[in-house]
Amino acid sequence: MAFETATMNTPGAKIYPVRALTQVMLFDKKLKMWQAPGMAFLKDDPAMAQFPLLLAPNREVYNKAGNVKAALDAGMKPYEAMGLKWSCDWTAMQVPGTSYISVSHGVQKVGLSCNACHTKGGVMDFKALGFGPEQVKQLQWGGG
Ligand code: HEC
Repeated sequence: MAFETATMNTPGAKIYPVRALTQVMLFDKKLKMWQAPGMAFLKDDPAMAQFPLLLAPNREVYNKAGNVKAALDAGMKPYEAMGLKWSCDWTAMQVPGTSYISVSHGVQKVGLSCNACHTKGGVMDFKALGFGPEQVKQLQWGGG
């Protein structure tokens, strides 16, 4: 999930199909992380004292209708018994940086034909991958 991107000159590099992964986390707009049970020690840490409370949505509720507020109400319910009532005011933040997940599920039974890649304007941009003009010409041997 997290390794450096290679170039065509990296020894042993291979082309893998991946999907770029965007991760979003939900935070309480008013409460801080140190207010969560067992997290009070963060209050004395200057770097963490203002860190917002990370919220735990209930995925099942979210998946039903995509209602974030309902998912947070359900997901944060168990914390109420521990004395943590979320403020009902949430914000979303994207986790910085890009990570990738391999495409290993829901793969089509029949793959791309040779010509899907080995023609001009095929699905792979050979130039962008770092091949020189001669190599690009060679790789685009397909008709069409
Ligand atoms: C998804 C895109 C894709 C498909 C589909 C694909 N290729 Fe390729 N092919 C490539 C890429 C990218 C390279 C360059 C790999 C490299 O240089 O490391 C390549 C390289 C080649 C080469 C040159 C190898 C060499 O060492 O110079 C041949 C020959 C080739 N493919 C044949 C085929 C044939 C035959 C098919 C169909 C059975 C096919 N390819 C399907 C992407 C594809």
